[in-house]
Amino acid sequence: MNENDKKGRILIVDDEESMQEFLDIMLSREGYEVQTVGSFRGATNILAETEFDVVISDIKMPGGSGIELLKKARSMYPSITVIMMTAYASLQTAVEALREGAYDYITKPFEISQIKYAISRAFENKRLRDENRILKQKIRSGGTIDDFIAVSKAGRELKDLVKKIAPSDSSVLVTGESGTGKEVVAKAIHSISSRRDGPFLAINCGAVPEQLLESELFGHKKGSFTGAIKDKIGLLEAATGGTFLLDEVGTTSPAIQIKLLRALEEREIIAVGATQPTKIDVRLIAATNSNLEAMVLDGTFRDDLYYRLNVFHIHIPPLRERREDILPIANHILKTIAARTEELPKIIDESAAQIIENAPWKGNVRELENALERASLMAEGNIINAKHLPESLRSATPTEQQRHPLHSISDEHLPTIETMEKAYIYWVLSMNDWKKARAAEILGIDVSTLYRKIEKYDLKDLEAD
Ligand SMILES: Nc1ncnc2c1ncn2[C@@H]1O[C@H](COP(=O)(O)OP(=O)(O)OP(=O)(O)O)[C@@H](O)[C@H]1O
Ligand SMILES: [Mg+2]
Repeated sequence: MNENDKKGRILIVDDEESMQEFLDIMLSREGYEVQTVGSFRGATNILAETEFDVVISDIKMPGGSGIELLKKARSMYPSITVIMMTAYASLQTAVEALREGAYDYITKPFEISQIKYAISRAFENKRLRDENRILKQKIRSGGTIDDFIAVSKAGRELKDLVKKIAPSDSSVLVTGESGTGKEVVAKAIHSISSRRDGPFLAINCGAVPEQLLESELFGHKKGSFTGAIKDKIGLLEAATGGTFLLDEVGTTSPAIQIKLLRALEEREIIAVGATQPTKIDVRLIAATNSNLEAMVLDGTFRDDLYYRLNVFHIHIPPLRERREDILPIANHILKTIAARTEELPKIIDESAAQIIENAPWKGNVRELENALERASLMAEGNIINAKHLPESLRSATPTEQQRHPLHSISDEHLPTIETMEKAYIYWVLSMNDWKKARAAEILGIDVSTLYRKIEKYDLKDLEAD
């Protein structure tokens, strides 16, 4: 049987050699391309290089559990189908395996018919998942300009810019720290462009192994590398008539960068293993949280590609630089959570609002989302208060009191200048161990004047004995 006629690729992971051999012989005879390996490490090395349709893995093996392998395989290849085997029939591990996304679970010893049946079902499942790959992305991509909440001046300007550049067909580079909303902006652009009825597809270039990234983007021909069992259409072609988001574009290798440049310049791509180019009709949006300009300067990112992507540039400032947006976005998030849980949106009370508004939000909107998800679970009633927010946030946030000491004094109790002077002199003295010369210097008065004021206000070092 010719390699290209194989039914599909299976990786068998088991430390027992007799089991490897048994499955290898049986499944090869069935027309599958089979590879075997005896350890966790060996399996992850093979997976990093080759894509498999199905993995059959023992749960207990040297160097790491089958469940860990399952998680790893699924993070690398979302549509991979994994069957777990174990000699110890424990309901608990079975449940855990299925919860982590194992497709099926069989106990040793098993009948040949049992494994054959499990595998044919697994392949059917893989085929459906592949078909769904593009379909699912299309559904997930719903998002409109209204999903981008902006109240601050910077936020509103950004939204105006999005509206202005959306109708053109030029590439857009979206930059901003992690979690600032780059994907939201990309979807918003698509949703108000003339391509809005076409697909919006995306790939996170940083999350996919290089060989897979190339075939995901450009597609491949059957037989072009081990594992390429049938032709596969690339996402850039699948996005015809629509928009494609190249997320984390700063992580792409030089080889991919060249191919992307060609796609932009010639409006055509060459699938892996193909001889003829294919025309594409797609608008590219690239997003990155790295400094591409610096990468161009140090030679890690092609300048010609950078200029092609950067026809329009949208920079999303971090949340802490547009604090007016924080509470409106927080309320929007609470509404989304409420819609999902079919409850009324929770309300942020004053104590929580102060912290939320002033927190550093290093992880930007995504961190805010996580904090609110958690607070919603912690809050028993309908109100979110300061205690429901993570401790780290509470201690990192200067309170309004600390930022503006006078903020909380109400109108009828406004202090006089004398009271303020007394308090201020006392404060400077106590901060300087009551060293009068030093305090006078800071206060900008003579030492003799300071002595007079100390007497006038009857100031004493209360800690001295
Ligand atoms: N202005 C906004 N209004 C409402 N929701 C927002 C806004 N900005 C971001 N979000 C929400 O915050 C989350 C993170 O946004 P997104 O995934 O677009 O960020 P990102 O910049 O792509 O992050 P990363 O760099 O981690 O990929 C999303 O759930 C998104 O819906
Ligand atoms: Mg993103």
